[in-house]
Amino acid sequence: MNRPVLEGVRLNPPAYVEHQRLVDWVAQIAALTEAADVYWCDGSLAEYERLCQQLVDAGTMMKLNPELRPNSYLARSDASDVARVEDRTFICSASKEDAGPTNNWMAPAEMRALLQTGDKALFKGAMKGRTMYVVPFSMGPLGSHISHIGVELTDSPYVAISMRTMTRMGRGALEVLGKTGNFVPCVHTVGAPLVDSEGRGQKDVPWPCNPTKYIVHYPETREIWSYGSGYGGNALLGKKCFALRIASTMGRDQGWLAEHMLILGVTNPAGKKYHVAAAFPSACGKTNFSMLVPPEGYTGWKVTTVGDDIAWIKPHADGRMYAINPEAGYFGVAPGTNEHTNPNCLASLKRDAVFTNVALTDDGDVWWEGLTETPPAHLIDWMGRDWTPAIAKQTGAKAAHPNSRFTVAATNNPVLDVQWDDPEGVPIDAFIFGGRRSTTVPLVTEARTWAEGVYMAATMGSETTAAMAGGNGAVRRDPFAMLPFTGYNMADYFQHWLDLGGQLAAKGAKLPGIFCVNWFRKGDDGTFVWPGYGENMRVLEWVLGRLEGKAGGAENVFGTSPRFEDLRWDGLAFSRDQFASVIGIDKASWQEELKLHAELFRQLEHHLPAELPATKARIEARLAG
Ligand code: GTP
Ligand code: SPV
Ligand code: MN
Repeated sequence: MNRPVLEGVRLNPPAYVEHQRLVDWVAQIAALTEAADVYWCDGSLAEYERLCQQLVDAGTMMKLNPELRPNSYLARSDASDVARVEDRTFICSASKEDAGPTNNWMAPAEMRALLQTGDKALFKGAMKGRTMYVVPFSMGPLGSHISHIGVELTDSPYVAISMRTMTRMGRGALEVLGKTGNFVPCVHTVGAPLVDSEGRGQKDVPWPCNPTKYIVHYPETREIWSYGSGYGGNALLGKKCFALRIASTMGRDQGWLAEHMLILGVTNPAGKKYHVAAAFPSACGKTNFSMLVPPEGYTGWKVTTVGDDIAWIKPHADGRMYAINPEAGYFGVAPGTNEHTNPNCLASLKRDAVFTNVALTDDGDVWWEGLTETPPAHLIDWMGRDWTPAIAKQTGAKAAHPNSRFTVAATNNPVLDVQWDDPEGVPIDAFIFGGRRSTTVPLVTEARTWAEGVYMAATMGSETTAAMAGGNGAVRRDPFAMLPFTGYNMADYFQHWLDLGGQLAAKGAKLPGIFCVNWFRKGDDGTFVWPGYGENMRVLEWVLGRLEGKAGGAENVFGTSPRFEDLRWDGLAFSRDQFASVIGIDKASWQEELKLHAELFRQLEHHLPAELPATKARIEARLAG
């Protein structure tokens, strides 16, 4: 092994590092960014605790009261760095057409000049005065044939500790890599060097970041470069950048799917187990659905979590689709989580969690909107200011940021599925797609065919949420809940879904059912009509009933929905009128809705599979009839 030495910087690769190309790349990025030091993460608990203490000393995190929340921390980000930045996210494929009309595109050479090679390239000197952490990780179980290795170089210790929770991080991943294995190189900087242009030292701040942000993907070379943000999907590059944007292009080339889906197991009282994968846009209920507690009256039913955000789905020789969760932890939305809505989530968060941008109680614990019905009399809000219910009433200030999140290992989840770590994955029986729609879209509809299901998923609309910077509740098309996450042309992505279904059907396989749901329809008073959360079990039972050919329903213009008598209502007072208001299809609203489908299809005209406008024409004919 040749171990390069940089002037003044020790590269420090541990003896177990045997991968020359990796060491050379680390040296190259350390030279480009002028990092003061290089540290290789081994993924050990001792290392995690050391870095957490360092983050406490730097003022980025504080330790929560160990009696109330053992081994847990609160981090506060800069107020400007609180969510994914979609308008700063780029797919730099060689051809613009490959990125498609729904992605921001820039020519690779132009982007490289901006980031790496130009006179004022942003990464040049970006890590001055900082340590560069080498974070090796596996998406998927260590050593599994379906897993892929990445290495993130980052100057954020918060990112390093988060990656330990969210992925299989550390020495094990490097051992899998061996001497010559392939990895996805991920370069991340907060873009806040500690030495200014005159070479003077600068004082650090608790959450360094840069107003200029670039989240960049090169699909051909499978590289990720992220500049300026330390938050969530902008910075934990294994998640959206790798496991969705880069992996979706790998899946296109290799015949599999990388999806923004939870995966759950559901066992009925007879002991039969099904697996369901469900795609809802950001902050639209995946974590909650994946940990669902069946309501009273559902004795003998059990829901278990395989994954809460991302699924890698591969066709198997037996003709079925098998899904794995490439992640190892949850980076979940805090607000709205409570003992009633998601008790399993709260149980997961009893200890060993990092909370970001939630509020701090006077006794050193955490709070967020919706955790308790009555807020505490006094809090420190997510920006470190005093907060009281009276202040909130006056100013509308939220104690926790709407996109405040927790980071916790999957193994803390009391309903973790026994197969969550199984390298073979679990066979998928049904796909569910769901947006956040206060009007128009019914509680649940079953697609009659694969193509109709693909149509439903492709045309799905959803109200934007705080998970994206600028999210304001406006309805936008979010095909497959993948609008911000598909690393290639969306029309080609639709074709890929149609092709995979076609290939499996040609083998004589029974394809998974496809369903469309909406938990979020509102009444005239502006509140949600459907109780949601655990009560979604009623819809899930109907879905399974349809797969078994047992549950009844009525055909409508799009597919099949349950009648009132087709759902089980034990233990829930929900009237026929209420049901009608969440299941009904209003013709006039749907005529408007179809105009939005048409707009999407116009945008994606180039390469749009002919099945989709053909399906639309059939729906329009039924709607007119
Ligand atoms: P990402 O992590 O951003 O991908 O979000 P997610 O899809 O996992 O959403 P999550 O389960 O964290 O829920 C987001 C918000 O929606 C939370 O505030 C939940 O309380 C709320 N929510 C989840 N499920 C339901 C439901 O069935 N009904 C209602 N009304 N709200 C829900
Ligand atoms: C999402 O926005 O869909 C998330 C959070 O899961 S983040 O990791 O920030 O993308
Ligand atoms: Mn998500």
